[in-house]
Amino acid sequence: MDAIVEVRDLAKQFKRQNGEAFFAVDGVDLDIMRGEIFSLLGPNGAGKTTTIAMISGLLNPTRGSATIGGHSIIDDPIAAKKLLGVIPQEIALYPTLTARQNLEFFGRMYDLDGAELRTRVDEVLEFIDLTDRQHDKVETFSGGMKRRVNIGVGLLHNPQLLYMDEPTVGIDPQNRRRILDTVVRLRDEKQMTVLYTSHLMEEVQQISDRVGIIDHGKIIALGTVGDLIHKIGEEDRLVFKVGDQAVPEALLERFKAEVEGVSSATYEKLEIKGENGDAPVDIRSTSSLQIADGTITVMAQRGRKALPDLLQIANQAGLDVLSVEVREPDLEAVFLSMTGRALRD
Ligand SMILES: Nc1ncnc2c1ncn2[C@@H]1O[C@H](COP(=O)(O)OP(=O)(O)OP(=O)(O)O)[C@@H](O)[C@H]1O
Ligand SMILES: [Mg+2]
Repeated sequence: MDAIVEVRDLAKQFKRQNGEAFFAVDGVDLDIMRGEIFSLLGPNGAGKTTTIAMISGLLNPTRGSATIGGHSIIDDPIAAKKLLGVIPQEIALYPTLTARQNLEFFGRMYDLDGAELRTRVDEVLEFIDLTDRQHDKVETFSGGMKRRVNIGVGLLHNPQLLYMDEPTVGIDPQNRRRILDTVVRLRDEKQMTVLYTSHLMEEVQQISDRVGIIDHGKIIALGTVGDLIHKIGEEDRLVFKVGDQAVPEALLERFKAEVEGVSSATYEKLEIKGENGDAPVDIRSTSSLQIADGTITVMAQRGRKALPDLLQIANQAGLDVLSVEVREPDLEAVFLSMTGRALRD
């Protein structure tokens, strides 16, 4: 895979209101690969928007460089910006124009016109799922719909790369889900590269191929979600439901001895008793008197990788695994471990 964006030692100094200078972005190095969703995750004020503004040519860096498709955003901004669509944090649309009129207006700014403009606007409306509302004024739209028009504007010139700066802020959960789906579809259906920013770890974790965690203007962790979590040494918990089957101790020993990364394997049987306290009742069948819910819990580094081997060993031992759940530690744990602070608002 090759990088479409290369950022080296990028920095921006601002002055606080009391006149004191500080670095809002302080030496960021970043490669964004073609076709990936790369997220910058960081708390409010971490430097996400400032980074995006510099690598989209809206703000001059104090030092460092950024290239898009090999073109410097500082020395060759026209070539660099051709590849780029930007969806800013603040929604910028004309409220009294319709969705279609907004897209046409911004399309002309990208030098589109005539049949080409009409076709692009049709395609974009279809993609953001607003074809049936295209002739309604934007001022009558919900926040989520406005955000979708905003995304549409960034897609008009069919960029290879899209920057989305916190597109889900202030959007209700249903529309948020839709925006996240749109981001994934941009990658999967349009082969687009997406640079996504957010301070919400759940959504970053859901959609990203790779994540950079930014705090006080510095990238403090970089990698896939799995990489970052495993770097801090937290293990996955794999939970196997086995019903009322017997689980020999030898099986648990084999899990630990034969599967890489497994640190522990334990078996627990929950017996559900009837109302009178001692006579067990089976809610599934009247012919059996007892319901038992057996659970094997395995702690492992890279649980998903260990899973096929664990299942194969269980299978060899004649055990029928009824369900499997993999519970992974999350990026919140990573941020906490790196900064000693929570990522929350
Ligand atoms: N033009 C400016 N002048 C002075 N300080 C600024 C300016 N723009 C941003 N800052 C400061 O730089 C820091 C980084 O801001 P930035 O907007 O990049 O953060 P962010 O990660 O995008 O945060 P949010 O999640 O709130 O959008 C903050 O302390 C902010 O107050
Ligand atoms: Mg911001």
